[in-house]
Amino acid sequence: MELLPLWLCLGFHFLTVEWRTRSGVATAACQRCCKLVDGVADCREQNLASVPSNLPPHSQTLILDANPLKTLRNHSLQLYPLLENLSLHSCHLERIGRDAFLGQARLRSLALPDNSLSESYKETAAAFHSLRALRRLDLSGKLPDGRHGGPHAPEPLFTGLQSLNVSYNNLEWFLASGDEAAFELEMLDLSHNQLLFFPLLPQSSKLHTLLLRDNNMGFYRDLYNTSSPKEMVAQFLLVDGNITNITTVNLWEEFDFSDLADLRFLDLSQNQFQYLPDGFLRKMPSLSHLNLNQNCLMTLHIREHEPPGALMELDLSQNQLSELHLAPGIPGCLRSLRSFNLSSNQLLSVPTGLFADASNITTVDMSHNQISLCPQPAGLDGVGPPSCVDFRNVASLRSLSLEGCGLGALQDCSFQGTALTHLDLSGNWGVLNGSTTPLQNIAPTLQVLSLRDVGLSASFTELDFSGFRNLRDLDLSGNSLTSFPRFRGSLALQTLDLRRNSLTALPQGAMSVQLTTSLRTIYLSQNPYDCCRVEGWGPYSVCTPSPTWP
Ligand SMILES: *[C@@H]1O[C@H](CO)[C@@H](O)[C@H](O)[C@H]1NC(C)=O
Ligand SMILES: *[C@@H]1O[C@H](CO)[C@@H](O)[C@H](O)[C@H]1NC(C)=O
Ligand SMILES: *[C@@H]1O[C@H](CO)[C@@H](O)[C@H](O)[C@H]1NC(C)=O
Ligand SMILES: *[C@@H]1O[C@H](CO)[C@@H](O)[C@H](O)[C@H]1NC(C)=O
Ligand SMILES: *[C@@H]1O[C@H](CO)[C@@H](O)[C@H](O)[C@H]1NC(C)=O
Ligand SMILES: *[C@@H]1O[C@H](CO)[C@@H](O)[C@H](O)[C@H]1NC(C)=O
Ligand SMILES: *[C@@H]1O[C@H](CO)[C@@H](O)[C@H](O)[C@H]1NC(C)=O
Ligand SMILES: *[C@@H]1O[C@H](CO)[C@@H](O)[C@H](O)[C@H]1NC(C)=O
Ligand SMILES: *[C@@H]1O[C@H](CO)[C@@H](O)[C@H](O)[C@H]1NC(C)=O
Repeated sequence: MELLPLWLCLGFHFLTVEWRTRSGVATAACQRCCKLVDGVADCREQNLASVPSNLPPHSQTLILDANPLKTLRNHSLQLYPLLENLSLHSCHLERIGRDAFLGQARLRSLALPDNSLSESYKETAAAFHSLRALRRLDLSGKLPDGRHGGPHAPEPLFTGLQSLNVSYNNLEWFLASGDEAAFELEMLDLSHNQLLFFPLLPQSSKLHTLLLRDNNMGFYRDLYNTSSPKEMVAQFLLVDGNITNITTVNLWEEFDFSDLADLRFLDLSQNQFQYLPDGFLRKMPSLSHLNLNQNCLMTLHIREHEPPGALMELDLSQNQLSELHLAPGIPGCLRSLRSFNLSSNQLLSVPTGLFADASNITTVDMSHNQISLCPQPAGLDGVGPPSCVDFRNVASLRSLSLEGCGLGALQDCSFQGTALTHLDLSGNWGVLNGSTTPLQNIAPTLQVLSLRDVGLSASFTELDFSGFRNLRDLDLSGNSLTSFPRFRGSLALQTLDLRRNSLTALPQGAMSVQLTTSLRTIYLSQNPYDCCRVEGWGPYSVCTPSPTWP
């Protein structure tokens, strides 16, 4: 067993929140400044220096957001014993008296975001002890602009609490130990902290939402280059004033004990994960949403129960994935998947049958990967292993983004057997080779089509969208069109973007009459004609303001 000399010092951040005492501030009793409706006393932004004392005693909700309270004094809420909701957002709180909540037997929801309680966290934690009915607690810190301190997750808080928000703090680790029975948390938001490891949760938990966006987490092998992640031990050094405590934790064992069986929503985006260890996702059989956007994943293995069969949404965008592996012989392993985001990776292809296997899939984003679509042009087919991505006959697919994929000229049946409503082929130079024929299979269903910057040029004859009878939104900007596309029969068209082309005239006569029956917006700027001389377009605004291109 390797012992890791990992010393994490939980220093407490000494804040110097600027506090100017304004003369003549606020009286405590200011009933007229509070709006009183149905048991709700809304006293936000009234420049109050303390809790008003003349509100109705039966108030159930008290909102004191954005008042410069600085301290929540002992007994200052005792006049309102029926409070269920208390909101103290941005009240410059540095201190909460240990008896501040005495008698608050009904308080279920307490919001304390954007205050500076880190120095007095012990007194604060003691104050929470009287809140027996508390279910929701928001201790999130300041949003990124300001300095913020870490109040570290105080364990006594867990009793009965169902929802805990400690985002925007400086937490470096999260370890829930102690009384297992008291851990009732269903929602835990630890986003925007400095966590290095996946939180260690109790052996029995009801957690269904775990939000870990924007931390520094990875799996241990990556961080410390050990042979086996299962042998990792970390020692945490807790420094609090002159008292120092050391806690030794076997990271994998603790993780293995964590109960994640009810977890449905896991957000791991913006972290440092390079891989997911075997068995990691298998611990979460109920997982329906997994977000791994902006990590450093290089390969992903899809195996039995990994990801779990319940998964509906998987976001792997903005990683460095160059390989996806699909274990053979486990048909239907992605059977619940609806949305699969693989955008901005380094994939050249995906395993054969991946999408066909995902029988409920509606949305695929493969933009910004260098791929080619099946079937490949004659001559390339059958040479070596198939390296094209096959969307044919993925009957459930509705929305497909292939922007910037370096696609070559499409073959005629790449989308055959699908009923796509949204298709983005932008940024693939030459993808249509001047003709809408490769889209004929999906012409009847398409509603939104993006063909921005695909090199449609002057040499081609009129581009024909007749037969695209449900097309609502068409983006043809950034091409070199010299003539107006043909729309016979496309009466659903509402928005047409023709910016940055080479048009010299608008269609006249019958064509314009037909088009204007449905069209609401047409973007025409950065074309070489004089749009102010366009006639016969009635009240439609065709001379749109100059767009702002980045
Ligand atoms: C307390 O706030 C929650 C939302 O945070 C709301 O659903 C609930 O109705 C409020 N309770 C009372 C008594 O106002
Ligand atoms: C609250 O009362 C306790 C004694 O019960 C005292 O030690 C503490 O200083 C008081 N806090 C405030 C903020 O007045
Ligand atoms: C937690 O608090 C932050 C900051 O106050 C907020 O943006 C976020 O939505 C909260 N999380 C949840 C799950 O409500
Ligand atoms: C990590 O371990 C491998 C194999 O044991 C070794 O070759 C490599 O130099 C190590 N890297 C670091 C940064 O210690
Ligand atoms: C630790 O600090 C407390 C007061 O904060 C003091 O009473 C005590 O003597 C200190 N102990 C040591 C070992 O310095
Ligand atoms: C350190 O550990 C002792 C014994 O487990 C405990 O009584 C004490 O409260 C701990 N101190 C801190 C700062 O966690
Ligand atoms: C597929 O989607 C349908 C309809 O949205 C749903 O009823 C069905 O349960 C889903 N199948 C799976 C395996 O999730
Ligand atoms: C996929 O992820 C990218 C980057 O995170 C995002 O911009 C895009 O909107 C996502 N696609 C879908 C279909 O949600
Ligand atoms: C593009 O179209 C032209 C004329 O229809 C044809 O000769 C050429 O082979 C096509 N290019 C590709 C790459 O399919």
